[in-house]
Amino acid sequence: MQVMEQLLDLLLFLLPIYIANSSPVVLGGGAPLDLGVRLSDGERVLGDGKTIRGFVGGTLAGTVAGGIVAVFYLLPFFPDQGTQFIAGFVLSFGTLFGDSVGSFIKRRAGVQSGMPFVLDTIAFLIVALLMAAPIANPRLYDIGNLAFFAVLTLILHPMMNMLANKAGLKKVPW
Ligand code: CTP
Ligand code: MG
Repeated sequence: MQVMEQLLDLLLFLLPIYIANSSPVVLGGGAPLDLGVRLSDGERVLGDGKTIRGFVGGTLAGTVAGGIVAVFYLLPFFPDQGTQFIAGFVLSFGTLFGDSVGSFIKRRAGVQSGMPFVLDTIAFLIVALLMAAPIANPRLYDIGNLAFFAVLTLILHPMMNMLANKAGLKKVPW
């Protein structure tokens, strides 16, 4: 029973991160976050795959998801409900920020927007976890939890992308 509870804790913790990461495919579009600016290497700062609407929409969607969780379920990773609410925003913003950092690195490496890259599946998770560190309980970062987050994300992220591609939401299956 306790294992199931721990599993539920971990999954509900991840919910705002996953919602924030996946919703821009639907909510995104319009003006790019980098406003079309290129750096001296001739490549875009972030590219057309990172839009303002996707960033803001993803952050809001994840924040709402984390807020709903906070209403009915207090996670052991935060000291109180108020902090858990704030964490919903921090994790969602961190997810979109980490996603953009990943694109920034991709562009510097000369990888075009939409092409697969090692950082695609995990950068957003790492940055979200780092950003939550000042307000989270240190037990969130137990090695077992981190391993669970990493393994589940490395499995789910490619699966969700394939599904989004099959559903016609995404041009490429990765
Ligand atoms: N998206 C968006 N705004 C964001 C993030 C994503 O609008 N901040 C949308 C874009 O339509 C993007 C799609 O979600 O094409 C898939 O996201 P992702 O795979 O992260 O972007 P890529 O197009 O692969 O671009 P990059 O190579 O920079 O990761
Ligand atoms: Mg991509």
